[in-house]
Amino acid sequence: MAVNREFVVMIQDIINHPEFQKTRNIIHHGKNNNVYTHSVATAHFAYRIAKRLELSEEDTESITRAALLHDFVGYDWRDGKPDNIKYRGLKRIWHSHLFEHGFSAAKNASFHFELTDRQRDAIKKHMFPLVPMVPRYKEGWIVTYCDKIVATREMLLCVADKFQPLFARMRPAFA
Ligand SMILES: [Fe+2]
Ligand SMILES: [Fe+2]
Repeated sequence: MAVNREFVVMIQDIINHPEFQKTRNIIHHGKNNNVYTHSVATAHFAYRIAKRLELSEEDTESITRAALLHDFVGYDWRDGKPDNIKYRGLKRIWHSHLFEHGFSAAKNASFHFELTDRQRDAIKKHMFPLVPMVPRYKEGWIVTYCDKIVATREMLLCVADKFQPLFARMRPAFA
């Protein structure tokens, strides 16, 4: 898909930032996907939706940048962070990466980039409805929606990839 120049201008300071570049090395939805590709795909989808809804340039940029930063936690969760081992039972689940990473991403993104309250809210709550915190602004609703669609597509590709050898073995049986 052709990437629009306006989209690139909106995000280039973030994607060229050395800390954001590190997300290329963090595996995300399967071995062929990393946080960088997932985040850029989510941002591009959010940008297209904002354009389709004919939102203002300011809103479009706000939504696109929030989408790009929604998983920018600043660590590889497979390395054991955040440390939820010290908790027990339901608290351990609540403090797991799945539930906590929106908050970590909002904090880390705010440290490296200038964010508005609306963007911070969108990043924090992008795991809604899994995390029972309702997005307060349109940024949040669009980021949440786009993340779900992009993540589902990536996970389906990952599953298809895993079953590929099985399908390859089955093919002669139907020949
Ligand atoms: Fe996420
Ligand atoms: Fe995501």
